[in-house]
Amino acid sequence: MTKTYLITGGAGFIGATFILHLLENTTTDIRVINLDALTYAANLENLRSVANAPRYTFIKGNITDAALVGQIFDTHKPDAVVHFAAESHVDNSIKNPNIFVETNVVGTQVLLEAARTVWLDKPVTKNNRFHHISTNEVYGSLGETGYFTEETAYAPNSPYSASKAASDMLVRAYFHTFGLNAVITNCSNNYGARQHGEKLIPTLIRNALAGKPLPIYGDGKNIRDWLHVTDHCTAIERVLENGKAGETYVIGSNNEQDNLTIAHYVCGILDGLKPRADGLSYTTQISFVEDRRGHDRRYAIDATKIREHLGWQASYSFEQGLAETVAWYALQQEQSSAKPAA
Ligand SMILES: NC(=O)c1ccc[n+]([C@@H]2O[C@H](COP(=O)([O-])OP(=O)(O)OC[C@H]3O[C@@H](n4cnc5c(N)ncnc54)[C@H](O)[C@@H]3O)[C@@H](O)[C@H]2O)c1
Repeated sequence: MTKTYLITGGAGFIGATFILHLLENTTTDIRVINLDALTYAANLENLRSVANAPRYTFIKGNITDAALVGQIFDTHKPDAVVHFAAESHVDNSIKNPNIFVETNVVGTQVLLEAARTVWLDKPVTKNNRFHHISTNEVYGSLGETGYFTEETAYAPNSPYSASKAASDMLVRAYFHTFGLNAVITNCSNNYGARQHGEKLIPTLIRNALAGKPLPIYGDGKNIRDWLHVTDHCTAIERVLENGKAGETYVIGSNNEQDNLTIAHYVCGILDGLKPRADGLSYTTQISFVEDRRGHDRRYAIDATKIREHLGWQASYSFEQGLAETVAWYALQQEQSSAKPAA
């Protein structure tokens, strides 16, 4: 039977990858409604290959617009919401926290309320699912040892992670108070094609090829558990379909790398792919900059629960994933610099 998924933020990095995954890689008959406000972080080019697909509908709109969201629920009767839409860049949240509360907290509340009203007060079908996409950043920062699990206490340190933590709490409350069939996934840092240029890996590649400094915060020793975006999408699909209502699943791949190491890997790949004219390594462009305020030191995930309960684990090797990613951005850059000026 055909199912309809309302996907929010589908023109962003992970949402677009998830939509492509659903529409191109599966044999199931899923219709996708993509609600996205097209902020600076969106790129509809990412979805060009499916833009005219019969199973795909794009709606430009804001998740904080309760009238619009209610109308979408009434018209399209989604079986599930997969909620990606967010302000997602920590640096921006330090400069302008307000929009983070507006989109990440109020926007989530608007979606939850629409789901409650339509799914629980006047149900058409049963078991409609609300899947909230969240981040491991809600757990704060780890020391040199230990891992985040579903039991880790929340301790967000940036306005971004605080707003995501607040949205997680609302989802939790709608499950406990109203019985909304909700699941939350808290994932580690994603990398891959189609990420906005403001994030670490695209910035390193762009600046390297442009002959600019590669900015590394502080001492470069901040550690993240890097997961390929395709692996994140398969995990989301698994939890969406088989996760237990009211549960949280942390997602990661046991791939801890510090920022400086990431920069060295990226430079090494580019040295092979597009050697500098002077024969020097791109590592000579690495430049340390003043640390981000409140910069979390280390994130690491223990993904035992999703592995044991739902049989998911990451399949990309970091070596392969990063090489493909660097090649993708390098090609994008080549194509955009080859375009004649408008
Ligand atoms: N990128 C990561 O490494 C990572 C890791 C874990 C969790 N997450 C979470 O995954 C989700 C997606 O992250 P991403 O990296 O793809 O983000 P992104 O910034 O690339 O994309 C966000 C998308 O949401 C849309 N959007 C923003 N505000 C909106 C609003 N008010 N109404 C409708 N649409 C709006 C934007 O236009 C954009 O298309 C976020 O919820 C983020 O917290 C991201």
